[in-house]
Amino acid sequence: MVRTFLFVFTLVVLAVVSLAGFRGQKFAGTPLQITPDMKHQPKVITQHGSGFFSDNRGDHPLVPGTIPVGYNLPGRYAQSGVNNMSGNSSFTSEPTYLDTGVIGDVYGDGFPVEVNDKLLQRGRERYDIFCAVCHDRSGSGNGITKAYGLATVASLIDDRLKAQPDGQLFATITNGKNTMGAYGPSIAVEDRWAIVAYVRALQKSQSVKVELLSPELKAQLEKK
Ligand code: HEC
Repeated sequence: MVRTFLFVFTLVVLAVVSLAGFRGQKFAGTPLQITPDMKHQPKVITQHGSGFFSDNRGDHPLVPGTIPVGYNLPGRYAQSGVNNMSGNSSFTSEPTYLDTGVIGDVYGDGFPVEVNDKLLQRGRERYDIFCAVCHDRSGSGNGITKAYGLATVASLIDDRLKAQPDGQLFATITNGKNTMGAYGPSIAVEDRWAIVAYVRALQKSQSVKVELLSPELKAQLEKK
């Protein structure tokens, strides 16, 4: 019994020492990797060669025409031919009123782009794409996401938001607010202003005095 124990014990000690080595011993050989996980994977290491490319270089100059995020994209919408407002829609983030909605330390008021029919049409289209899911096409805040649990969507035709300067609406779209995400990275600067203009139109459209309506619109209203 004791003999068997001593034999097994010696075997275990030998096994542990041969696998784990002596304490403090430095091991200079290639490590024994039982589960290498993601240690070895094909990738480009900066300033190293790479067999992946035919010229065996890891680093390459930018492909002509590549535009880093945040740079001006002049004429971006010119490509589609329909949405070119000034040919300058972009994703810049300069500290200007156009890009931030802020002048100095306060939100500015007024539009840094020309407000015309085209801008409003563009704003309506963009609003319906980006905002209506939550804020509803009317701005009421009862978009489809409400039915799925996003209960705190603000009504855009609220007096509080009517009183906000244009720059603040622009900044809300750009940076988001509380549970609303930021749309600066996905909507170009001019399009954001177009949306602000359209939100203003939504706000006005829902509280206009009957006397101010054109005779045709008044007639329509009376029919209803
Ligand atoms: C995914 C849903 C969602 C989308 C899409 C969305 N919003 Fe919102 N928005 C919210 C929620 C939720 C709030 C309320 C945030 C809070 O609790 O203050 C809000 C608040 C606002 C406010 C009020 C900010 C304030 O000062 O209180 C404005 C203005 C606004 N949104 C405009 C927009 C515009 C314009 C778009 C389209 C570019 C848009 N939102 C897209 C969910 C959304």
